[in-house]
Amino acid sequence: GPQCNLQGLWRNELGSNMTLLALDAAGTFSGSYHTAVAATNNQILVSPLQGALQHSSSKGQPTFGFTVQWQFADSITAFAGQCFVDRRGKETLETTWLIREEVPTRRDSWRATRVGTSIFTRIK
Ligand code: BTN
Repeated sequence: GPQCNLQGLWRNELGSNMTLLALDAAGTFSGSYHTAVAATNNQILVSPLQGALQHSSSKGQPTFGFTVQWQFADSITAFAGQCFVDRRGKETLETTWLIREEVPTRRDSWRATRVGTSIFTRIK
């Protein structure tokens, strides 16, 4: 069947956009993330991401992960997901994310992490 291709411009249900650049031979890739929302009041800046595509199985719906190093907050986000492709070739990225914010003390660590799911579809 059709294969999933991570390269391109994607948007999630929050309206965040990300660009994933071409994968290298090892399956690692970079890109940029423009979040539509933030936990801070700082001005949102487009932020770099670094990821890896897992060795794809013959089914062509590979797993991947990437981190986003926010340029306007002390937090960092990790995404893990899978690229699905339907019979018409439409690709969907099903992801789960974790965001860790910097808290002042170890006693605050309990509230430092949030988790969620996100679905990306290709816009280009
Ligand atoms: C911050 O507010 O600390 C940095 C921006 C975090 C944006 C989060 S990451 C998970 C979720 N999905 C998005 O597209 N944006 C939010």
